[in-house]
Amino acid sequence: MERPPVPSALELQVKARPLPRHVGIIMDGNGRWAESRGLPRLDGHREGSVSVREVTRAARRLGIPAITLYAFSSQNWARPAEEVAGLMELLREYLESERSEILDNSIRLNAIGEVDKLPRYVREPLERLIADSSHNTGMVLSLALSYGGREEILRAARGLAEAAARGELDPAQLEETDLESRLWTQGLPPVDLVVRTSGEQRVSNFLLWQLAYAELCFTDALWPDFRTDEFLRCLSQYQGRERRFGLTSAQVQREDPPQRAKA
Ligand code: FPP
Repeated sequence: MERPPVPSALELQVKARPLPRHVGIIMDGNGRWAESRGLPRLDGHREGSVSVREVTRAARRLGIPAITLYAFSSQNWARPAEEVAGLMELLREYLESERSEILDNSIRLNAIGEVDKLPRYVREPLERLIADSSHNTGMVLSLALSYGGREEILRAARGLAEAAARGELDPAQLEETDLESRLWTQGLPPVDLVVRTSGEQRVSNFLLWQLAYAELCFTDALWPDFRTDEFLRCLSQYQGRERRFGLTSAQVQREDPPQRAKA
């Protein structure tokens, strides 16, 4: 990593308050960013990679334990072939260019989604970096690749049904944790905050199970314009929220809510 920038007042303020344990980000608006400049959509995705680097660095500096970036959805395969190919090539370049940064900064790379659907030239460097960074403990950076929340839940449900059919579990005894342990996010901290850029206010099949009690931050900034300051503003918004987990405000203020440890 280059010499860290001098932290802004906002960064110092955000760092001093409780941070989310896990931030999910829907990186939207690359296409619009490019089109508004008369550029090919892929240039927007390329500029978006710069935001990926900045936001990852900021999260690591702040000490956020986990971030998950929605880089390619299950549904994105249906985009024009040229755009899909361009995105795959960008991912390959990213895995090469960020390799030393990830390893040198104790970041553990992880992937969630149907990774086996990725072309070999992405899957191989991805799996290599996941393996090589597997002992890092500074932060988990998960890339959601060929990821869909419904697909994830369906896969977990299928696993449970198969286990029940084999007589290994009793459907009447099923707990939330049984399903959770079959999600791709198994082992990651609970998602406390989901950010979506570009002014759209929907979740688009991202972390559907996990965001049950997550705080949501919607910002108008297009992803290529979403840099450290925008990220800090979302974190600061999060820090100003009262998380109630179904309790009343008075209960939450009286004591630490019992669900907090879980959700
Ligand atoms: C959504 O914007 C963005 C994507 C489908 C791809 C996100 C990819 C990157 C940010 C770059 C590569 C990723 C990594 C991890 C290096 P959109 O194209 O739907 O934007 P639009 O709604 O303005 O058309």
